[in-house]
Amino acid sequence: MYTSLALSTILVFCIHGGLTIDCPKSSANWCDNREIAQACGVVNQCTKYVWAVAADNDRVNFTLYYETLCPDCRQFISTQVWQAFQSISSIVNFTFVPYGNAREVYRPETQLYQFYCQHGSEECYGNLIHTCVISLYPNTTAHLPFIYCTESTKGDVETVAGKCAEKTSIDYNKVSSCVQSPVGNQLQHLYAVQTENLQPPHQYVPWVTINGQHTEEMEQEAERDLVGLLCKTYKGSNPPAQCKKNL
Ligand SMILES: *[C@@H]1O[C@H](CO)[C@@H](O)[C@H](O)[C@H]1NC(C)=O
Ligand SMILES: *[C@@H]1O[C@H](CO)[C@@H](O)[C@H](O)[C@H]1NC(C)=O
Ligand SMILES: *[C@@H]1O[C@H](CO)[C@@H](O)[C@H](O)[C@H]1NC(C)=O
Repeated sequence: MYTSLALSTILVFCIHGGLTIDCPKSSANWCDNREIAQACGVVNQCTKYVWAVAADNDRVNFTLYYETLCPDCRQFISTQVWQAFQSISSIVNFTFVPYGNAREVYRPETQLYQFYCQHGSEECYGNLIHTCVISLYPNTTAHLPFIYCTESTKGDVETVAGKCAEKTSIDYNKVSSCVQSPVGNQLQHLYAVQTENLQPPHQYVPWVTINGQHTEEMEQEAERDLVGLLCKTYKGSNPPAQCKKNL
């Protein structure tokens, strides 16, 4: 690709005496750089479909393993995570895994998993609601406001979830159907597996991984200054203003 680009660039330079760039015949090269894209009249398309995707691959993967009723999880989500989402979401790929210190047992008689949670069955219910919301609304922009709302509001799990759903444009009827279905049960099981497979194994919640890694030091920094940590980890070319402020 680079060879043909170089050749076509040289060709263009020869023909035009280096003054302008012609659009290459092969559309494979149209988004190679801004000048070529301009010559081909496809700057908007390149920005949207090619360059944005490349920038997307630089995103820092932030994964949060948590359980819905743990006070430290609530605190972390309502402050650090929410702030990071509001200020630097363009460089972060947020993933939420609502399971935490729960345990599961498969019951052959019902063909369902039964979950046992640190803060009781209310927490299992909350975890399942989060699981269904994330699955129904996979875009972070759609599910994180709900997660934030429920984690920062005290009260009965079902009541809070209903209110938060309404506030954050989540269709609670769909969520309820998922929660009551074998699909919801299976989705929760997948989070159990993902949590149990952590390396190193998680020892507490909230438990953070950044680009798949976890260290004690990183965890402490995340809970103290998540924006700073994510900015420091980001290696892409387009740090948001909030990151530059922190440098
Ligand atoms: C974001 O994270 C999810 C789950 O960890 C992964 O499947 C996806 O590829 C990631 N996206 C980017 C742009 O890194
Ligand atoms: C997620 O939602 C936001 C806001 O509605 C939108 O700009 C973005 O393109 C969506 N992302 C994906 C991957 O659909
Ligand atoms: C984020 O995760 C995705 C999918 O797992 C991976 O392709 C990408 O390289 C990761 N990004 C970083 C910066 O590690």
